[in-house]
Amino acid sequence: MSFKDELQKLRASFDTDLATVSGDDELEVLRVKYLGRKSGLQDLMRLLKDMTNDERKDAGQAANEVKKAIESAFDLTTTELERARLENLATEEAIDISLPGIAPPVGHLHMTTTAIREIEGIFARLGFTRVRHPEVEWEWYAFETLRVGPDHPARDNWETFFIDAPADDKKGKMVLTPHTTNGDVREMERGDLPIRMMNINKTYRRQSDVSHVPMFHQFEGLLIDEGVTITDLKGLFEHFAKEYFGADREIRLRPHHFRFTEPSFEVDISCGLCHGKGCRMCKDGWVELGGAGMLHPDVLKAGGVDPEKYGGLAFGWGLERTVSMRAGLNISDLRTMYSNDVRFLQQF
Ligand code: DAH
Repeated sequence: MSFKDELQKLRASFDTDLATVSGDDELEVLRVKYLGRKSGLQDLMRLLKDMTNDERKDAGQAANEVKKAIESAFDLTTTELERARLENLATEEAIDISLPGIAPPVGHLHMTTTAIREIEGIFARLGFTRVRHPEVEWEWYAFETLRVGPDHPARDNWETFFIDAPADDKKGKMVLTPHTTNGDVREMERGDLPIRMMNINKTYRRQSDVSHVPMFHQFEGLLIDEGVTITDLKGLFEHFAKEYFGADREIRLRPHHFRFTEPSFEVDISCGLCHGKGCRMCKDGWVELGGAGMLHPDVLKAGGVDPEKYGGLAFGWGLERTVSMRAGLNISDLRTMYSNDVRFLQQF
């Protein structure tokens, strides 16, 4: 086969190969095959040196033409492949901006937190400052200073958790506070009178059933000033009941007994279902909110407050109970509030 025929054959083979190329990698393989040092074209070029001058001029020119043709075919294909890639990109990676987005789930505060903030707000507007006294407490503040001595049967009312820690000669054992009344004497000890305290905190008792959780919350209000009377107590509750439960709700005070208050009351609110008429839920038209009373002079003295000069009122209510009694909320088992089931929590 003549030199030119060989060139022709090479050229034809290149054209066939190029037609099958569909990507940059394949093109690179072809470049090595047709333009590399070990390519057929180079083999042919090497023959030139054995030719006569005339032959070489003619054959060299023909070989160069083929080489240029192959090179420009490569350039063209490279450009072509890049254009095709960009074109596909536009369809393959297209984003349909008219599609509706996927909304991330939005959470909200736990119903207990919401209630704490709400109750805190209602009393803040009456001048009460939110505080938190210890959850891990001495018997002294949880019981003794509240006139509940070590052997007093009233201690059994609070099913107390005890901390496994050394006892103090004066302050007794450490407990998980079973009520927020522990903050009353602590607050008085700060010596800053008058006092308008709202102690909202976690409290603990060994009870677990549909209406009790072992860890719950109470809010304790304490008002100490000159000339504080039961009228103030009643006014506070009326205000709170209407703010938190609704303008149509009434309250009533029922005489009761607590060691640390004299007189003592249980505070009832008119039933949200029958509005005081009496129904299956409430029986006599009223439901119990919590305890209250005028602080016993000995409790004031335990906190360093002169009972001749100052009067004090206090009230302590269960937060979960208060929340579940709000109109429209019919929580059949209080424990669901803390079982972390979103299906329950997202309803409130
Ligand atoms: N601490 C009491 C309890 O948990 C509730 C209570 C009753 C608090 C009367 C008071 C009060 O401040 O005056 O059972």
